[in-house]
Amino acid sequence: MRQRLIVPSTAAAAFLLLAVPASAADATPGAPGAGDSYYPEAGNGGYDVSHYDLRLKYQPKTDLLEGTATLLATPTQALSRFNLDFTLDVSEVLVSGKKAAHRLTGAHELEITPAAPLEKGKPVSVVVRYSGVPSAVKINGYSAWKRTPDGGVVAQEPESAAWWFPSNDHPTDKATYDVSVSVPDDVQAISNGVLASQTSKLGWTRYNWRSTKPQATYLTTLAVGKFDITTDTTASGLPVVNAYSKDLGDNLSSAKASIERTAEITDWESTVFGPYPFTAVGGYVPNVKSSYALETQTRPFYSPSSFASGANQSIVVHELAHQWFGDSVSVKDWRDIWVNEGFATYAQWLWSEKEGEGTAQELAEYVYNSIPAENDFWKVKPGDPGADRQFDRAVYNRGAVALQALRNTVGDKTFFSLLKQWPTENRYGNASVQDFVKFAEKASGKRLAPLFDTWLFQPSKPAVLPAPAVDG
Ligand code: ARG
Ligand code: ZN
Repeated sequence: MRQRLIVPSTAAAAFLLLAVPASAADATPGAPGAGDSYYPEAGNGGYDVSHYDLRLKYQPKTDLLEGTATLLATPTQALSRFNLDFTLDVSEVLVSGKKAAHRLTGAHELEITPAAPLEKGKPVSVVVRYSGVPSAVKINGYSAWKRTPDGGVVAQEPESAAWWFPSNDHPTDKATYDVSVSVPDDVQAISNGVLASQTSKLGWTRYNWRSTKPQATYLTTLAVGKFDITTDTTASGLPVVNAYSKDLGDNLSSAKASIERTAEITDWESTVFGPYPFTAVGGYVPNVKSSYALETQTRPFYSPSSFASGANQSIVVHELAHQWFGDSVSVKDWRDIWVNEGFATYAQWLWSEKEGEGTAQELAEYVYNSIPAENDFWKVKPGDPGADRQFDRAVYNRGAVALQALRNTVGDKTFFSLLKQWPTENRYGNASVQDFVKFAEKASGKRLAPLFDTWLFQPSKPAVLPAPAVDG
């Protein structure tokens, strides 16, 4: 039976307002930053990206990158306009199929104004057609895209996406990726995840890489060049793809003696940190002059220089540990970098302990005893090092001593269960240093805030390194 409808005048007014989409009335611009305390312009507000589809073409001779990015996103507020982080030349933007106005503002802000405001919660597609020479792009005087003699490579932290695809460039907005790159037949394109297919025509080969678990923008990588590619499967059944530049010279054998142990190291780390979070693993070494490595998801980036004095399994242990600590469990804010680097460094100490090259306790004592209190090392607070000290060795080494201090305070049983529980409970999420402190207190039933304050937040050398717990 239909109810008789009595419409008082206020309800009628409300009804009329609803007839105009509520979002249009109160749509506002999305913020040009995600609110990071170190990098205010990184990322943007007002929407969440769930998927990036990058369909690109790259010519090594000219360093010209061109193509189309299709983003699937959901507004988290009614949006009159929104930003993506990007710098290459944009020729067209479509939002859900309709042409949208766009302009570059600020250091790396692509401001997009759709034809009509976007409704909160209603998914949209965003198509960006673009081209440019990424090595020519400098943001704050810096280029994340590096040329190699046979192509180029992009792998950088905390920001690298703006050099090659439009994004919401902050680890709090993770997404899945299809990276499809067409390159001349004599080079290959390497990216994250699995190579779903590869097709050649008219002198060009297209590589279709898929990364199907949540992935932060800075962990998305691309390398084009001449590579030797090895493929295998781990004992636990995970596909392994490694790629070595054909021009590594003397460093090829030492790189292989390190990275070919990826399967073994991943399986060992799974016994310490719990199930591996992703669907593929590997590593790659482009012919690039740089001195760092990066935990690019499923496929860490290594510099040839990492293997210049021989094999270096320890760096492989570090980058693979980041797959749990950094990639699966990511920072909430870049000031939380210790939740990445402290744990990845501690993984190297556990590897050393397992290999009989010194226990974690011995390595912690070495750091603690060999660096005098006056050294600037102790001025850096691993729990909030500042943007300019984000990758300071203190974040890594004092950060790992902090974990040994925790281990000694709570005992091995609780400590090793923590190392598994943390990445399991926070899988594919984001966490802060404070989240870890609370988590460790809950899991151990001990008040640990003062310990973490001493080891992570004081700009001075802690008075004592806690002795190992007797209960083991
Ligand atoms: N997360 C990287 C690692 O420790 C560090 C990258 C630092 N970047 C740099 N350009 N130095 O493996
Ligand atoms: Zn690291």
